Amino acid sequence: MAQYKGRLTYAKGTYVEFVVAPNQDVDFGDILVVEGQNQDRFYIRAYDFKVKSRWSGLNGVGYLMSKLDENGQVANQEELDFYLGGNHTVKIAMAEQLCYVDQQGQLLNPKTCPNFFCEVHSLSGEDSALLDEMKGDLEIGLLKSGRSVMDLPVGIYGNKAITEHIGIFGTTGSGKSNLVKVLASSVMQSDHYGLLIFDVHNEYYKDLALHPLVKDRLAIYNTNPVNETATKFKIAYEEIEPDDILACGSFTEAQLDALYKMHAIWQENWMKYILNYDTADIVEELSGSTGQKFNSRTINKIKSLCWNLEKELNIAEQQERTLPQILQELELGKVVLVELKNISPVGEQALSTFLSKKLLQHYSGKDEQAKMSAKPVLVVLEEAHRFLGKKEVANNNVFARLVSEARKFNLGMCVVDQQPRLLADKVLSQLNTLFILGLASKADRGKLEAMCRKDILQQRNEIKNLDCGEMILATNYMRFAAPVKIHKFENFMERFQLPAVNPLTGVLPLS
Ligand SMILES: Nc1ncnc2c1ncn2[C@@H]1O[C@H](COP(=O)(O)OP(=O)(O)O)[C@@H](O)[C@H]1O
Ligand SMILES: [Mg+2]
Repeated sequence: MAQYKGRLTYAKGTYVEFVVAPNQDVDFGDILVVEGQNQDRFYIRAYDFKVKSRWSGLNGVGYLMSKLDENGQVANQEELDFYLGGNHTVKIAMAEQLCYVDQQGQLLNPKTCPNFFCEVHSLSGEDSALLDEMKGDLEIGLLKSGRSVMDLPVGIYGNKAITEHIGIFGTTGSGKSNLVKVLASSVMQSDHYGLLIFDVHNEYYKDLALHPLVKDRLAIYNTNPVNETATKFKIAYEEIEPDDILACGSFTEAQLDALYKMHAIWQENWMKYILNYDTADIVEELSGSTGQKFNSRTINKIKSLCWNLEKELNIAEQQERTLPQILQELELGKVVLVELKNISPVGEQALSTFLSKKLLQHYSGKDEQAKMSAKPVLVVLEEAHRFLGKKEVANNNVFARLVSEARKFNLGMCVVDQQPRLLADKVLSQLNTLFILGLASKADRGKLEAMCRKDILQQRNEIKNLDCGEMILATNYMRFAAPVKIHKFENFMERFQLPAVNPLTGVLPLS
């Protein structure tokens, strides 16, 4: 039920002020409705407050001060209450009109302003046009209204948001991992999208396993699985390309040259031969084929990197391959977890690059018809600045290419980071859906304000004060950014649990 919150006292353009009803709370970021005269409804967001009193003038303040003792303490509370009580003091909320719904129930951008003294209410089920826009098919949380949480679900529309890229930003402990889990379970529930998560801390499986559809909709890969839940990740020699190795560090001109030459000569067998031939033989072979004499140190560096990756990523002659299986699972709309905790940073970089590149190649190679039937896939990249910082993006690595090209092919990136200021501007400006959680650093908040397409400047107060599990959701297809309490994963799961069997009768309760 809508609650009465106050009355409009001033409006100019899209700016409105209203006096808050004395017994009501209105907080930074609350979305409220002003009821117009012809059943039209104006949606506003409160972003600041001022308190006014007939005592606000210099004389008034001076008079009140004279009622305090020499330590600034109230000498006579009753007398002071008399002066301050009643309707001498009002709290005025400053708000911005976001959009409005006309008599036909159509949601429109602001066209006019509401009249003086119209009633201001909290949102309720009646505001269905507005709520539909915020609901989405991938539910994330509930609409927040000041300190309370409303029973109004908020989420994103996967078909609009995924290929337009997503950013999840928040300081450690603000609730990013919980949000990824909630998003993953909504994806599992929906069956319309694939989700590839690079799980840097191996933290997702144990929670996602609580989802009742886990058997059908979740696949886990690990290069060295400790139990049967995860599939062993393997790569065949021919699947690896020189670029996958180059992602793992910096190389001299000579090393790059040697690597590409070896690939040109040996083609898909390049890695196998580098590993199997002696350095001296390789130098000789290169000299014979290209006329160039490479230094044995150059070859050794490449050999050593290949050796490490071969061991770590199970690169071998393979009968069964995991890559085609992963690609198929993704396009069928599953959640694929790739656990990375037990491999080195270099291995992690190689593996994430390898998979992302293959996914991009696979999707970009589809003809029109195949494109229609494959589901959109979102790639979740944690601590993303390691891959999408300014330097990395300048090198146009696969993640930079995913950000700039993927949407054409029905793919999208979900960039997760605690320090958005470390990401390249080119990446930030491409993220059309932002989940902004608590960010302790002013520099990070400033960066998002500067780069975000939605004008979130007015939500500065609110963003500064976000608690754990709270966020601002800004997406380009929604008219405004919404304050959201993200579901706590464990509570969200309760909704999906199968009804318990009655221990006495042994039957399921009727639903
Ligand atoms: N939406 C939420 N509601 C309630 N508690 C939450 C929520 N999100 C996170 N938390 C709590 O905060 C802690 C840190 O969350 P986490 O998702 O691990 O943060 P991050 O990944 O940003 O470091 C978790 O232990 C969790 O219990
Ligand atoms: Mg985390």
